[in-house]
Amino acid sequence: MKPKVFSGVQPTGNIHLGNYIGALRQFVELQDTMDCVYCIVDMHSITLPQDPEQLRQTTLDVAALYMAVGLDPKKATIFVQSTVPQHAELSWVLTCNSYTGELSRMTQFKDKSKGSESAPTGLFTYPLLMAADILLYDANIVPVGNDQKQHIELTRDLAIRFNNKFGDTFVVPDYKGMEVGARIMALDEPTKKMSKSAENIHSRISLLDKPEKVKKSIMKSTTDSEGIIRYDVSEKPGISNLLTIYSVFSGKKIDEVVQQYEGSGYGQFKKDLVEIVNEHLDPIQKKYYEIRESEELIKVLKEGGEKAGAIAENTMKRVREKIGFINL
Ligand code: TYM
Repeated sequence: MKPKVFSGVQPTGNIHLGNYIGALRQFVELQDTMDCVYCIVDMHSITLPQDPEQLRQTTLDVAALYMAVGLDPKKATIFVQSTVPQHAELSWVLTCNSYTGELSRMTQFKDKSKGSESAPTGLFTYPLLMAADILLYDANIVPVGNDQKQHIELTRDLAIRFNNKFGDTFVVPDYKGMEVGARIMALDEPTKKMSKSAENIHSRISLLDKPEKVKKSIMKSTTDSEGIIRYDVSEKPGISNLLTIYSVFSGKKIDEVVQQYEGSGYGQFKKDLVEIVNEHLDPIQKKYYEIRESEELIKVLKEGGEKAGAIAENTMKRVREKIGFINL
């Protein structure tokens, strides 16, 4: 049997290079050899306030981007989380089998809540919904960026605890990260990760950015005053981040890129990177606009939801049986 894969992306804002390099590239790679289910996690998005109409649109945007970067609905199941209610159901069961202490230790919650008493409860219980997503599909492998690793570790703990208490029920999943690019940094502040929510739009490059915007963001990106292109994350986080992006999009090893630019200044390196990134984004954008306007998109999500729903219901039957709920 093929290994099972599950992952998801939140439909808040457009997908950026961090999402693409850290996660989506893996999604596409794995669809040829594994049994893949990919979700647009709209229920995770409402942990922070969203404009309802915009949320509906960005959900479809992300679905179209999934396909534009190369996900094929004939190979992988693509669906929207809220169309499969078993995610909420399992999330509650896991809530009742978790501890406030372990949720309090999640760095993402600590960062986002900043210790405030009025932090939304959903932000706190967010990792349990994520665990439910993964466990519903018996996933062996979860391809994500490095920032999600702690959530996968919690999912493993929850699965093992549940299995010990109620008998074998869940598959214990493994994290899978990219060797190069598991954590892409913000262009303006390269010690922070690139994120959808940062205020400065030049901190990130979205997959749908126009060539001029890409140019501006890269040319403005923060580097250092040494003037030598070499890979050193602690001393030269800006250049190292750009080298990573260059390496991923050119298919060359970081060492090769460093050699290629021996004796060159940052200006030329950045200009070349602008070209490489724009060349890579151009076909993705063309495909995106085609798919986004097509009726095919809704059909894919409907069929994907039905397929996912059948798998999720199977798992929930098992869970209900184990915990003493009635399966009618
Ligand atoms: P989200 O929507 O924040 O990000 C989607 C994916 O992109 C990765 N990522 C990055 N990778 C490298 N560098 C970055 N700067 C960067 N920023 C984001 C994330 O690690 C992620 O893989 N909680 C998840 C969504 C989710 C999920 C799941 C993932 C919900 N349920 C079940 C896997 C399995 C999130 O908020 O991702």
